[in-house]
Amino acid sequence: MLNQVEELASKAFDELGKVADLNELEAWRIRYLGRKGSLTQILRSLASLSPDERRVVGAQANDVKKALEAALTEKKETLEQDLTPSLQHASLDLTLPGQQVTLGRLHPTTQILNEICDIFISMGFQVVEGPEVEWEYYNFEALNMPKDHPARDMFATLWIDSETEAGDRPMLLRTHTSPVQIRVMEKTRPPIRIIAPGRVYRYEATDATHEWMFCQVEGLAVDKNITLADLKGTLFEFARRLFGEDRKIRFRCDYFPFVEPGVEVAIDCLVCRGAGCRLCGNSGWIEILGAGMVHPEVLRRVNIDPEIYSGFAFGMGVERIPILRYGIDDIRLFYSNDLRFLRQF
Ligand code: FA5
Repeated sequence: MLNQVEELASKAFDELGKVADLNELEAWRIRYLGRKGSLTQILRSLASLSPDERRVVGAQANDVKKALEAALTEKKETLEQDLTPSLQHASLDLTLPGQQVTLGRLHPTTQILNEICDIFISMGFQVVEGPEVEWEYYNFEALNMPKDHPARDMFATLWIDSETEAGDRPMLLRTHTSPVQIRVMEKTRPPIRIIAPGRVYRYEATDATHEWMFCQVEGLAVDKNITLADLKGTLFEFARRLFGEDRKIRFRCDYFPFVEPGVEVAIDCLVCRGAGCRLCGNSGWIEILGAGMVHPEVLRRVNIDPEIYSGFAFGMGVERIPILRYGIDDIRLFYSNDLRFLRQF
């Protein structure tokens, strides 16, 4: 009988080692410890043994029972913690590659705007902002363009019907960032050094270098003894930092009613390297900004004495800068929401 108990114990532990899931474990329990299980049968048969045999075999059988029950509990805990068998039946497949998390990024215009601002901030300029929906007064009138001034035609305007709310004070979508100059000079006394980035709108047909909505950065410096040389020096330094030493910069006379004299600044076209292409209209140059010395009339309007103070101002087209830098051949790519284009920046 003792041998029988020993054999049963060794067989039971052997089989328990091979049990792989909770169903198999339950079958094992019934086989050995259930009401009709092998060990239970042995314990029941103790009654037919002599008292001496019963004491010895009974003690051994009870020890085996305790050991099997302890092993059963331990195995059950292990199987319950091990998720693998249940995951085999679940729809989750851990071997599949993870889903790619795409990182968002700044729009190329925002990236270049940040870069432009950093350069001017390092030269001592402050960043200010103005409204995109603007009064006609700030967009034209205060900038030396009274009603019917022919220069207004330079800025094809999107007007806002404001008759009910504002009476005879017409409103528009600002056609340039220059109105911010006036807003700043109305409130601040020289010395002034500001840049004003933002969106502007023009009612015009689009082509490779013209959008109906684009960004500009306005610059304004007003102080005693500011000259055209300061304007040139500032813009040269800016262009050198943004485009590198080897690019060509062209200054030419231009006309804007709010500056005197006025200049237009262009950079050599990167697409054709000056040879002429669709982007630069075969001229070899791309105009990036208009600039000049603030007109005395503009200073007078904001109560800054042009006999004491002078200033320079500029307004640059922001999208034209990545166009020049990366040789992008169409400005319309910036706002057509084509991710293949946007993801390159
Ligand atoms: C102006 O808007 C003036 N306010 C600039 C200025 C400021 C002159 C201060 C003097 C003193 P202009 O219309 O040329 O000027 O525009 C300035 C720049 O904006 C251009 O050089 C060009 O780079 C960009 N730009 C003009 N029109 C468009 C357009 N339709 N699409 C994209 N960029 C444009």
